Amino acid sequence: MCAAPQRLTVRYFGDAKARGQLIPMVTAYDYNHGLLMDGAGIPSILVGDSLGNVVLGYDSTVPVTVEDMVRATAAVTRGAKKAFVVADMPFGSYQSDVPTAIKNAARLMKEGGAQSVKLEGGVSVEGTIRALVEAGIPVMGHVGFTPQSIHSFGGYRVQGRGANAQRVIEDALAVERAGAFSVVLELMPSELSKDITAQLSIPTIGIGAGPHCDGQIQVLHDMLGLDPTFRPRHAGHYGDFAEAITEAVRRYVNDVGEGKFPAGQESHYSRPG
Ligand code: KIV
Repeated sequence: MCAAPQRLTVRYFGDAKARGQLIPMVTAYDYNHGLLMDGAGIPSILVGDSLGNVVLGYDSTVPVTVEDMVRATAAVTRGAKKAFVVADMPFGSYQSDVPTAIKNAARLMKEGGAQSVKLEGGVSVEGTIRALVEAGIPVMGHVGFTPQSIHSFGGYRVQGRGANAQRVIEDALAVERAGAFSVVLELMPSELSKDITAQLSIPTIGIGAGPHCDGQIQVLHDMLGLDPTFRPRHAGHYGDFAEAITEAVRRYVNDVGEGKFPAGQESHYSRPG
């Protein structure tokens, strides 16, 4: 009998910070990407509600539903068998009351197969994070720019500049106090993320937050250049797949048009050859 591949656990995060080992994370939203990320050796995948932007074509993460997240998470965990999977709790799934938050987080774990959930906010969700953790649900926090609050921020804006730095620090401290195992720091000055990383005992995972975090996370579609119309300033440049895909499909269109595809090797015959 063949043994199932060993999946990383939540302990990976604390151990990595203790060893000074930097943590790479990416997002994924489907079976194929889960499979590929596992093959690339990524230790942890976030099924982000950025799914709303990069997969569903919304202009924010606000419309994303629990159903969207459960389905995407289940697809990713069918593909990724080794990575520790974090599933985003979408807007409206945890803000109203703690029982609703626990019910929705449990769905992401039971139906989606996630090992943990992520939710946005600091001081304002401290009680919710604590209740989830007490219910046996590992929680990753998310402070700084929190995309679900885009309408309150008035757009994609760097957070924590000047006097606002203290508010972001308070949020990060609240997330740690509540028992989260890690926290995403999004869109903030490098000096601030460095300060927070030094103050926290849990690992910080940065996106648009500079090089001093304990780990980094990238939206897969951004780092691979899959959207020809948009690439955020903080995105890593690890490919230009929009161009590669467009070019490949253009060749296919030509080949079909010219009768070159399918050829013999792609065809079936009455007698196997
Ligand atoms: O949904 C997402 O992709 C995220 C990352 C930006 C951290 O929350």
